[in-house]
Amino acid sequence: MKRSAPRPAGREPELFGATAADPAAHRLDTIAKVRKAAATCERCPLYRNATQTVFGEGPEDAPVVFIGEQPGDQEDLQGKPFVGPAGKMFDRALEEAGVDRRKVYVTNAVKHFKFEWRGKRRLHAKPNAGEIERCNWWLDKELSIIAPKLAVALGATAARAVLGRATTISKVRGGFLALPGRAGTDAFVTVHPSSLLRAPDEATRKREYDRFVADMHAIVRHVAAVRA
Ligand code: URA
Repeated sequence: MKRSAPRPAGREPELFGATAADPAAHRLDTIAKVRKAAATCERCPLYRNATQTVFGEGPEDAPVVFIGEQPGDQEDLQGKPFVGPAGKMFDRALEEAGVDRRKVYVTNAVKHFKFEWRGKRRLHAKPNAGEIERCNWWLDKELSIIAPKLAVALGATAARAVLGRATTISKVRGGFLALPGRAGTDAFVTVHPSSLLRAPDEATRKREYDRFVADMHAIVRHVAAVRA
């Protein structure tokens, strides 16, 4: 029986459109190249029902990378992260903390929209551990290339992807954690902005929103301190 050639370490040839005549294209050493490769990702079944891969956005030298869970309905249609209702909440909090979104990198732990049909609506479905793990290949590339001062996990799925283990947000929220194997990049965990939208009443929403903005301020102070 004919055996296929061993796969070179760190490379998954079936994912990339490069040819043997163009070996440099295999080197996923820029965000633009990784984004292009991720556009045809079939690492897990989620690509089958999603409209497109929603890759991260922002400068390659961003000091902070914000990581959400996965694209929602709007993000899936527009091909951009955090442009739906949770994204609007996120933008508002960033602005209040004096963060220019164009200067940070925003991405997701899982790059395809996972959903269930409920009548004519596509309802968000939580990605499972296997899907998070498969997609971590891309997040790892993003973090390696950008090498930010801080990786901010928004919610439990992102925390799992960044820290490599299931985490209780309330236990780690607000602290700056060292990331094993990523010297120079710390991690920070906070809630997902969509949790603010789900607050049961106006008072809770305001309190949780203020706490989220306080987290954004803490992030700004931390990055300023480690850059000084
Ligand atoms: N929720 C996320 O986690 N990411 C998005 O991009 C949008 C909503």
